Amino acid sequence: MNVLVTGGAGYIGSVLSRQLVAQGHSVTIYDNLSRGFRESIAPSVRFVQGDILDRGYLADTFRTHKIDSVVHMAGLIAVGESVREPALYYHHNVTGGLSLLDAMKDAGVNRIVFSSTAAVYGEPKRVPIEETDDKNPTNPYGETKWTFEKALRWYGEAFGMHTACLRYFNAAGAADEAGERHEPETHLIPLILRAAAGVSPAITVFGDDFATRDGTCVRDYVHVLDLANAHILALEALAKSDTGLVYNLGCGGDGFTVKEVIDLAKKVTGKDVPTKMGPRRDGDSAVLVASSTKIKQQLGWQPKHAELGVIIESAWKFMRTYQLKL
Ligand code: UFG
Repeated sequence: MNVLVTGGAGYIGSVLSRQLVAQGHSVTIYDNLSRGFRESIAPSVRFVQGDILDRGYLADTFRTHKIDSVVHMAGLIAVGESVREPALYYHHNVTGGLSLLDAMKDAGVNRIVFSSTAAVYGEPKRVPIEETDDKNPTNPYGETKWTFEKALRWYGEAFGMHTACLRYFNAAGAADEAGERHEPETHLIPLILRAAAGVSPAITVFGDDFATRDGTCVRDYVHVLDLANAHILALEALAKSDTGLVYNLGCGGDGFTVKEVIDLAKKVTGKDVPTKMGPRRDGDSAVLVASSTKIKQQLGWQPKHAELGVIIESAWKFMRTYQLKL
């Protein structure tokens, strides 16, 4: 396949693009570097610096590089920021997404795998969450991802596009040469590891008065390598003419509370993790845990690195090798 990965200089894209190349595919990363990093891009991958809002440049890129499939990862992803700046999220995640679909239409590219999120569900009525459960996003981030999912459905029907939406729960962990990096970092595991390494004074727990087993939020952490593999399975399914695919991606079970993640990180790193209690963060759901039965049954996906200790260990190794130079 000739795959264009929008936002491929980001965390998950940098891992996915390496996996695609390892499996013999040709990869073009299209990224404006507003949130991604040039250093995260593998040398074996073609890089085009551009914005998804630039429909003409996108269409040219599709034609020049004979793209047949798109993985759309470009977008803004921070829950708290989205509550403060909803317009930014609509602009990039909805308007930007539509510009991409129109460019695909212009260039005759008709396969797309979209990075969606557990945040489309909002506060679920039951866990584990199934794909058909209610969508009531509690923040503009989730709302804009859900809006684009619905647009994809109608573009699929009108223009014969083959579409897949992958709803990630909490992506975590690292590959050998690529891992999590955000500026500013807002995600739990890298922030815990920074506190463990002493580069930040403490991790602040956002609320301990949720209706969960220890009062802190429960999340479903899934290894980035397993996420990457799910994209490849989805691309292969679209190439066989499947369409309208929608899958949750998580490891299920009971999930982990914020306190449980901190305790496990202490064990894995052998370091203390100074912890402070803080107020709730706007837009956070109490519990998000996936049922991933559908993708297991339909595409044969199986997480190979489901243990949270293994996930944290890989993130710790990546951080020490590439970020902290400890
Ligand atoms: N948390 C803290 N302190 C921090 C950072 C996070 O207590 O300093 C808590 C959050 O309140 C939340 C949990 O840790 O309960 C995980 O927070 P993250 O910011 O790491 O992840 P989110 O669950 O907010 O969001 C992530 C992805 C989204 C995705 C979502 C779905 O960033 O793209 O998971 O679960 F939609």
